[in-house]
Amino acid sequence: MSRKILIAGNWKMNKTATEAVELAKPIIEAIGNQNDIDVLMCPPFTSISAVSELIGNSTVRVGAQNMSDKASGAYTGEISAAMLRDLQVSYVILGHSERRSYYGETDAFINRKVLACLENNLKPVLCVGETLEEREAGKVEEVIKTQLVGGLANVPADKAESVVIAYEPVWAIGTGKTATPEQAQEVHAFIRKELIGLLGQVGNAIRILYGGSMKPANADELLAKPDIDGGLIGGAALVAKDFLALIESGVKAQANKI
Ligand code: PGA
Repeated sequence: MSRKILIAGNWKMNKTATEAVELAKPIIEAIGNQNDIDVLMCPPFTSISAVSELIGNSTVRVGAQNMSDKASGAYTGEISAAMLRDLQVSYVILGHSERRSYYGETDAFINRKVLACLENNLKPVLCVGETLEEREAGKVEEVIKTQLVGGLANVPADKAESVVIAYEPVWAIGTGKTATPEQAQEVHAFIRKELIGLLGQVGNAIRILYGGSMKPANADELLAKPDIDGGLIGGAALVAKDFLALIESGVKAQANKI
């Protein structure tokens, strides 16, 4: 198994630049340059620079939570891939369900961002997931397939390995309700199959993260599943000791997967 576990914090619209430093500093110090797993922090745009400056030679990576599909120009309020790269950003969360539902992001729009990300050697973290209504209507696979096919259209074969998928059932995000490890694994295995169908064998190398109320109490069980390659963590990423505990779970899970 060659997939390296990725523990990623999605800070959402939390933390001023000053507060971001307070949160990131103890985490970066504790992690140092461990290289067993990948660790990522995604602060809001306004805190990226402050967090990047703390990284030094730590292996922690900094990510963004969104990005423009355009390269530059008259797009008021937007942030380009080049601007993010200049701040040492290496991953970008795209198509989060909050952006899909509150800001009307469609699969076609998200796909343009995924392609812009890859063109600029940034790693997209493409989020997919069903609502409770869709799950109850038996539409989980249909919904996820549509999001994958739409979001990954025209991804070049030589860049496909940089893609990260995050399966985030909408009903589990910020609700305290987690998918059971079995429910999550079932969907992750489906995503793996679809990735192989869409992109070929490289689908075996693509990391699929679970997101939705992941916390120290449930991480070990989720990360033990064969197709769960890490976590995209909201609430628990805002508490340094919880995020560090999740990283520890990731390191343990990695040791068992090899
Ligand atoms: P949560 O958020 O961990 O607070 O449920 C996860 C996410 O939305 O990425």
